Amino acid sequence: MKMEGYFSRNIKDALKNDPPGEWMPVLPDDCIRLSSGFPAPELVPADGLKNAVNRLLEEEEDLPLHYLGSPRFARLKDYIQQRLQERGLKDGEVLVTAGACQGIDLLARILIDDQTLVAVESPTYMEALEVFQNYTEHFMSIPVDEYGLQTDRLEEVLADRKEKGLPLPKLLYTIPTFQNPTGTTMSTERRKHVVELAEKFDFLVVEDDAYGELFFEEQAVPLKAMDHHDRVLHVGSLSKVVAPGMRIGWVNAGPEVITALAWFKKDLDHPFIQATMAAFLENTDMVQRLSLLRETYREKRDVMISELEKSMPERASWYIPEGGYFVWIKVSGADTSELLQAALDEGVSFIPGQYFFLNHEDGKEFLRLSFSYASRDEIVDGVQKLGNALAKLHG
Ligand SMILES: Cc1ncc(COP(=O)(O)O)c(C=O)c1O
Repeated sequence: MKMEGYFSRNIKDALKNDPPGEWMPVLPDDCIRLSSGFPAPELVPADGLKNAVNRLLEEEEDLPLHYLGSPRFARLKDYIQQRLQERGLKDGEVLVTAGACQGIDLLARILIDDQTLVAVESPTYMEALEVFQNYTEHFMSIPVDEYGLQTDRLEEVLADRKEKGLPLPKLLYTIPTFQNPTGTTMSTERRKHVVELAEKFDFLVVEDDAYGELFFEEQAVPLKAMDHHDRVLHVGSLSKVVAPGMRIGWVNAGPEVITALAWFKKDLDHPFIQATMAAFLENTDMVQRLSLLRETYREKRDVMISELEKSMPERASWYIPEGGYFVWIKVSGADTSELLQAALDEGVSFIPGQYFFLNHEDGKEFLRLSFSYASRDEIVDGVQKLGNALAKLHG
């Protein structure tokens, strides 16, 4: 039986796009995964979470297994709120979500309809693009350089559209700190500029701060901490600093937005997982944990950068990230989708740049490497293998 006739207009429109995430072949076990934007396996606190589950069930018995009941369930939100306040995000309410991704999806639901114009960075996080494409086909892409989103360019485009009477975006999605995929961080001047532009051209800013706590040098001030008009909707996550499988994220925004999001959040929360995370956090020194993470990822970044300097041809260039998980590499004249097969044959994976662009053609010369998941030895080996693949393909 054909189901399409029963589908909503939303899903029919979305199905016109390429299927999400089906382009990476299944990787053999011995492949070095420089493609994976996952935490380092040794930094995922399996023992701490096991203890948290045990303590939770011993102390609360069946309570966390009901729809409501665990006193720890509410404490997770308090912890998140307190951490945000320490980072200068003093206003706004918190909605706990199943990862940052659910936060982005819920925001898209309440803000985007099929005529909405959405401004995005180019390149940007592919899953967010896929979420937005489920709701609209109208996008405006603004390039990112070493200092993050090019806000002068954004202003030019907005002013031009306004002058011509064209629709203006209702929201801008940005990852200002240790961006995925470029690893770049928006400068302070540009941060101020974005907040000013939002006010001047009347749009909202979705700030995806998934990597904000993973700084190797200086901590960047979140856009939300610079915003005094509730224009910035801050999305965060514990995926990169605790464990992605726990699916804990949040949206921090003004009360009207939080009420609207809660209206559509019909998953009845995940009480057991949220209470487990609260139990884990009450027995964890997060300051210490975060400094261990920063130290480990900084070292891994250094290993990757120093090996890139040795193994990459001259026509390859990259930014040195000051935090997060990623290095973004441009290989002039290359087609990185073609390069992927050659790299896989050598035993290393990466993500071809095209998937981070709305127009795939724009990403041909780029690739994303992640230094978070692979071990130091694997990083060295993997970058050498990538160098071999490039040499075989391009001489
Ligand atoms: C920029 C960005 N936002 C959000 C996420 C997903 O976060 P979560 O696991 O909390 O849904 C990722 C994960 O790769 C990411 O890179």
